[in-house]
Amino acid sequence: MGSTHMNGTKWSPSSWKSKPIVQGVEYDDQKAFDGAITKLSKLPPLVTPLEIVKLKNELREVALGNAFLLQGGDCAELFDYCTQDMIEAKVKLLLQMSLVLIYGGKKKVVRIARMAGQFAKPRSSPMETVNGVQMNSFRGDILNSYEPDVKLRTPHPSRLVDAYMHSAATLNYLRAALGSGLADLHAPLDWSLGHVLDSSVRAKYQRLVSSIQDTLDMLRTIGLDSARNLETVDLFTSHEGLLLGYEQALTRAFRLPPSTLTSATSRHHSHNRRASTSASTPTTYYATSAHFLWIGDRTRQLTHAHTEFFRGIANPIGVKVGPSMPASDLIPLLDILNPTREVGKIVLITRYGAPLIAKHLPDHIRAVQASPHAGTVVWQCDPMHGNGRNATSETSGQTFKTRRFSDILSELQQALQIHRSLGSYLGGVHLELTGEAVTECVGGAEGLTEEHLNTNYTTFCDPRLNEKQALELAFLVAGFLREEYEEGSDGDAS
Ligand code: PEP
Ligand code: CO
Repeated sequence: MGSTHMNGTKWSPSSWKSKPIVQGVEYDDQKAFDGAITKLSKLPPLVTPLEIVKLKNELREVALGNAFLLQGGDCAELFDYCTQDMIEAKVKLLLQMSLVLIYGGKKKVVRIARMAGQFAKPRSSPMETVNGVQMNSFRGDILNSYEPDVKLRTPHPSRLVDAYMHSAATLNYLRAALGSGLADLHAPLDWSLGHVLDSSVRAKYQRLVSSIQDTLDMLRTIGLDSARNLETVDLFTSHEGLLLGYEQALTRAFRLPPSTLTSATSRHHSHNRRASTSASTPTTYYATSAHFLWIGDRTRQLTHAHTEFFRGIANPIGVKVGPSMPASDLIPLLDILNPTREVGKIVLITRYGAPLIAKHLPDHIRAVQASPHAGTVVWQCDPMHGNGRNATSETSGQTFKTRRFSDILSELQQALQIHRSLGSYLGGVHLELTGEAVTECVGGAEGLTEEHLNTNYTTFCDPRLNEKQALELAFLVAGFLREEYEEGSDGDAS
């Protein structure tokens, strides 16, 4: 088993094991680990190649500038988040944000949730001290428990199968709920703006909401909302592909007829043929734990295990790109991950921080433009991961990890401007958000301050935008896109 790639070296789902790895995992119980991996290797795929190819075709449209990508969800999804209410709240929020972005950018919006598998976290420090006791840091529910207990913080292999089961349960409800109309355009959505303190800002958002509602009403009046393609909304799933043992066990070989690879949207050609069923078509490996996986900013070394694993899977993939990425590494990485230069295969998820984006993004854009990969990548802005900071409450003395809404917005706005000024297209945003009314990021129209952080701070990893902040960000981005669209169409006319 294995396939030869353009760069000549053999790839197989396990070839990453011969490379150095960072953020690797040591289990005490090797037998239990082997048992978990054997079990996972037999369980059915969570997503199908046809769905993955469909996403790839949609991302191709994003790379070409014809669509916009919205990706969002928790930093660390917990097994406990697998509830009807939490799943519904996140799906509705993503749908609502996408309607706002469609209105702003006049483009189709591709939706990917950080959901149904976002269980593994890279950590800057493997150990931490809680109440004077040294223990492993929490590395995500797929590895250990967030409970501050030395034993529960020790990685346990049974969690690998638990992670699969929680992904499956989440995905099952996602599919069922979407298929039953949860995200239909006639489903009720909460557009209330009572929390917006500034009345002129509130009036501005209200105009946007009214325009969107008028459009939806019109679709309803003429019966278009019951057209098949408006009834069910596509929502793809994604997570960081950090735990390569888990990903390998769910990576499967398929032989798909070549026609499926280019026009994957027709159900009539939908085949999930396994490698054994046809001898004439080439074998392709798909990671079937999610439609889309990304490599984190800490694990994208050219010669290491994660890059090795990712170069062999046919899924569309993301690469986090932070300030530590030299522009000279970017093209070699693209050469490895996308040797055939498929358009839309790679999403570059840039995350520098508001003060640093102007220093790094232009060089990264120019490097791609000057390479054979020009025009093939999707550029996505992650305005979250470069903007973390600590805040200490003056009254309680408690310290929280937070992010300022204004920094998030600033990085996004700068990304739009920089891409535009270089003749590049910002194809999407990548956000950490939740459908719950949490108090983790400061700022936004509700006026959350550092003193509010302890009201409902529930994240076990990075601070997320709450539902109101996330929707507000969509309003603001829609405003930027609209200006761009209007200026762009003026330009076309002259
Ligand atoms: C994340 O997306 O939660 C994450 C850890 O990001 P990065 O790899 O960019 O730091
Ligand atoms: Co995060």
